[in-house]
Amino acid sequence: MKIGIDRLSFFIPNLYLDMTELANHRGDDPAKYHIGIGQDQMALNRVSEDIITLGANAASRIVTEQDRELIDMVIVGTESGIDHSKASAVIIHHLLKVQPFARSFEVKEACYGGTAALHMAKEYVKNHQDRKVLVIASDMARYGLASGGEVTQGVGAVAMMVTADPRILTIEDDSTFLTEDIYDFWRPDYSEFPIVDGPLSNSTYIESFQKVWNHHKELTGLKLEDYDALSFHIPYTKMGKKALQSVLDQTDEENQTRLLERYEESIRYSRRVGNLYTGSLYLGLISLLENSQTLSSGDRIGLFSYGSGAVSEFFTGYLVEGYQEFLMTESHQEMLDARKQVTVAEYEAIFSEKLPENGESAEYTSDVPFSIYKVENDIRYYKQYTQNLAFIS
Ligand code: COA
Repeated sequence: MKIGIDRLSFFIPNLYLDMTELANHRGDDPAKYHIGIGQDQMALNRVSEDIITLGANAASRIVTEQDRELIDMVIVGTESGIDHSKASAVIIHHLLKVQPFARSFEVKEACYGGTAALHMAKEYVKNHQDRKVLVIASDMARYGLASGGEVTQGVGAVAMMVTADPRILTIEDDSTFLTEDIYDFWRPDYSEFPIVDGPLSNSTYIESFQKVWNHHKELTGLKLEDYDALSFHIPYTKMGKKALQSVLDQTDEENQTRLLERYEESIRYSRRVGNLYTGSLYLGLISLLENSQTLSSGDRIGLFSYGSGAVSEFFTGYLVEGYQEFLMTESHQEMLDARKQVTVAEYEAIFSEKLPENGESAEYTSDVPFSIYKVENDIRYYKQYTQNLAFIS
């Protein structure tokens, strides 16, 4: 029995900043942002949105009435947790009305957490084939105003329903993974923003890809020409391309061109959203599946996951017969197109807003489906203002 991704959706807030405007404001050449880094727009959230609202909004697009009774686990991969103790998954489990006899917890290892959650889900479903696991990768990639990483910021969540006999992508048992204890990006408990060694994170990302890819090749015998597309973790859209280019001399020109074309399809959404940390690889996968005119059922996709610190993994999936029917292309593209553009001054003000601390209270209104409506006694209260766009049942 094959296990894998049965449904797949993302959610991003309804505000964005244009990268030309940011570059001009910071005194940089816009070409550096658009071409050198590869980012056109940055998703921006209001203070009443956090990883819980993002995750619940992404998941509510794919969780059906029947699913609520069949989900045994809700796993959230994140590095933007809102509590050192209580897991966001517990609150999302409640918001989505999942049956009570379920496990709900959070997984952390920088941008790798979503992949850890996905494989944990797969192992569970292997032994409980009539049950489902909801995997959510939800993050707010924030480096700070005028920081080195500012142009790569982003925010959003991806939700994946993991089941037996999946309708979109099977996940094979061929993972190769790697752990190396380094400090390229980390966020001490006291700090709102991460500490980043940009050049080290770039080089470790590429070297990690080469190591897990070559190891995978040795173990499976699969070469670049055996893949219809490769999907990468996308901290910014130029990053995965650099990793891909670093191994392209292993194949001929025709395959190089083909894989680079698929790569461009995989970054279309990320160019308009920015980094989603744990969700980035999966936003790239959605972009690839929803934008490629050449992929078809049975195609083999390679996926590379990287989390600073550092853990990485390369694994394979196959597109299932009829997978196109279960994509949410139209509603995803509508979500991207319907966003409101903000000025740099508005971005700086919204970015700097904070929820009350130390027991203080505040109330909010929102035009986003699941949002925070109140903070009181250090508890965030959530409600669903409007229904999400319809899902496909
Ligand atoms: N036109 C076109 N390209 C330009 C340019 C211009 N006017 N000016 C610079 N560039 C190019 C540079 O040549 C460079 O390209 P290259 O990497 O292919 O050589 C690219 O833009 C970035 O320039 P750089 O000077 O390295 O940028 P930076 O010092 O601002 O740092 C990051 C870039 C990604 C390191 C920084 O944004 C960061 O720390 N991000 C967060 C960490 C991260 O995402 N790490 C990735 C692995 S997890």
